[in-house]
Amino acid sequence: MKILLTGGAGYIGSHAAVVLSQAGHEVIIFDNFSNSSRSVISRLENILNKKIVCIEGNICDFALLENAIQKNQIEAVIHFAGLKAVGESNAKPLEYYANNVQGTISLLQAMQATGVKKIIFSSSATVYGAPKYSPIDEEYPLSATNPYGRSKIFIEKILQDLAISDQSWSIVCLRYFNPVGAHESGLIGEDPEGIPNNLMPYLAQVAIGKLAKVYVFGDDYQTLDGTGVRDYIHVMDLAEGHLAALAYACRQTGFEAINLGTGKGSSVLEIIKGFEVASKKTIPYEIVGRRFGDVAVCFAKADLAKKKLGWSAKRDLSDAFKSAWKWQNLEGK
Ligand code: WQD
Repeated sequence: MKILLTGGAGYIGSHAAVVLSQAGHEVIIFDNFSNSSRSVISRLENILNKKIVCIEGNICDFALLENAIQKNQIEAVIHFAGLKAVGESNAKPLEYYANNVQGTISLLQAMQATGVKKIIFSSSATVYGAPKYSPIDEEYPLSATNPYGRSKIFIEKILQDLAISDQSWSIVCLRYFNPVGAHESGLIGEDPEGIPNNLMPYLAQVAIGKLAKVYVFGDDYQTLDGTGVRDYIHVMDLAEGHLAALAYACRQTGFEAINLGTGKGSSVLEIIKGFEVASKKTIPYEIVGRRFGDVAVCFAKADLAKKKLGWSAKRDLSDAFKSAWKWQNLEGK
């Protein structure tokens, strides 16, 4: 199939591009490179040994999207494009709603105008807000503690309403937990601008000597070692989840929201120790106060993905650590 990947030059999008292309699909990337590097395209061509069509543009540009869909005979869309920094969204809510929500509406209108009605949406476990228990299943009530998470909830609700209004749409919202790791080549990986917010890229930059130490945000949570617990999923497993979701969307219509996680939790200190083993580096850290908005424990109930998509995460964290370290040494900032 010919698949449009909005935000396809980003961390998750580029890994999905590899998996989809290697499964025989033709991927067309649509990206404004606001949070990704143009060099990702040539790296993807290196990995895949084929040319990749890439259209530079903003998802708010209806006309450009409509033309891209028509000209490339797009059959389905995987929608990764979106601003995703929790902290930044508190400071710039309008920018987040304009880009994420308005941009998605513009994309859906372009799909409607061209008769393309299969979409996989990149949602997030952030839609669960501050969950009272884990593992979290898809029926857990949605709530958000920041504009980023709220934008994801708004988009999921828009997609649900669209599926109710027109039963010929096939819509799958994939709720990612904590993506980590990189493609085995080390040519693509998580490449945040500036100081990383997320734990794994921060660890990698400490290990390579770019940052001095890791600040552990609190060790007084009700967890085994007091530090925060999350569901870290290898980005290649996540990418394969998109391939499975696309096949599912081709089998049936309607709306579905599905967790993509391992179903297991790991603490911050466990992640630090694991990364030390993989990188053979000592990673200095200092315990500091909790980060505002953090929850103690958050990991997925991963049964629905198995049942509906026939997919489950199969890579273990040591591979994620090794691939992230290889990426950091080869290409990371
Ligand atoms: C993980 C754990 C921190 C950094 C975020 C977004 C979520 C999703 C994934 C987009 C927590 C601790 C972290 C550090 C630390 N992104 N930590 N020191 O917060 O679970 O989820 O990324 O969809 O929307 O909220 O990920 O990597 O920031 O934190 O101690 O320097 O590591 O407290 O326990 P998080 P994270």
